[in-house]
Amino acid sequence: MLTDLLCLAHNGRTRVLTLLAAILLSAHPAIPTPAISTDVNQTKPLLIAHRGASGYAPEHTLAAYELAIQQGADFVEQDLQITKDGALICLHDPDLARTTNVAEVFPERATVRDVAGEGEAKRGWYAVDFTLAEIKRLDAGSWFNRTNPFAARSDFSRQRIPTLEEAIKFINNRAGLYIELKHYPFYKSLGYDVAERLAATLKAHGCDKREKRDRVFIQSFYKSALLRMKEIAPQYARIQLLPMEDANRKTDTAKITPELAQEIAAYARGAGPSKAMLASAADVATLHRAGLIVHPYTFRGLTTPTSRRPLDEQQQNGSSVRQNIISDIQRYVYLGIDGGFTDYPALWKAAIEGGPKRN
Ligand code: G3P
Ligand code: CA
Repeated sequence: MLTDLLCLAHNGRTRVLTLLAAILLSAHPAIPTPAISTDVNQTKPLLIAHRGASGYAPEHTLAAYELAIQQGADFVEQDLQITKDGALICLHDPDLARTTNVAEVFPERATVRDVAGEGEAKRGWYAVDFTLAEIKRLDAGSWFNRTNPFAARSDFSRQRIPTLEEAIKFINNRAGLYIELKHYPFYKSLGYDVAERLAATLKAHGCDKREKRDRVFIQSFYKSALLRMKEIAPQYARIQLLPMEDANRKTDTAKITPELAQEIAAYARGAGPSKAMLASAADVATLHRAGLIVHPYTFRGLTTPTSRRPLDEQQQNGSSVRQNIISDIQRYVYLGIDGGFTDYPALWKAAIEGGPKRN
């Protein structure tokens, strides 16, 4: 036990305290242990289903969320966009075109917008230009069947874009919610404070209650969005995605430094860096030393949302797609991460069960 304590100490005082708590709990087995925790000290890294089980089903559909839950996700991710009439919907891109048939249903409705605010306006079918009723007419699954014929299912073509409310009701506490505030300044410039609407929606569904709040993470690439959440709904754990996307930011946020970690620790519970930012265990340790949990994105091997391959296919390095994804997860778990986003929840499970153990 002393060895365990010494091993865990490198990740901070809180890990040791949790081990002591575990010892106490084992002496009192009647005390229930929560199934899901945002605590830095959980022994197994958290499995966050990225856009649902998006390697197996069309991202951000109830089918993808259901599969994620069946595959054992601790948390299911929702990326938020907002409709013209103010509904929060689960959608990764601000433009509906990649994941729906909007261009066929509404061929004349494209607009030109500069979502990133960097002077690069693009033509697209932006969710914010459509009402929820219009968006509910769109097929959100056939694109997946076309681009992933090896994983196609006829029922995917009947999938619709869910609202956040529908997602909360559907998941129904079977997994936690891991919600991203996307393009916060863009929507603010149009008169929508998405953070306020998110806080109100969570409250309306009782997610702010003590027994439910640790099943919610709020994440954003925008520090401004997280500061707003801290102000209006501080009870939810906040995760700063990296690199940050706030405009006019002078300091580089694509490199892990003690200064960056300290800055984030002032308003967030953790950091969600791109995997590439974690070059070694030292980067994870830098974040841990500031008291932050670490949830990198995205574990999907050499596939992307628009270029999937069958899991048994051999890749250039002689390993299968499946094995490459599992090895990738195992490598980062070994570095000491506290959780991670993956498109393939079933492979996360396989990696944790079969891989090198963290301290
Ligand atoms: O939110 C973590 C990860 O999902 C960030 O990347 O572009 O998939 O939202 P993205
Ligand atoms: Ca996301």
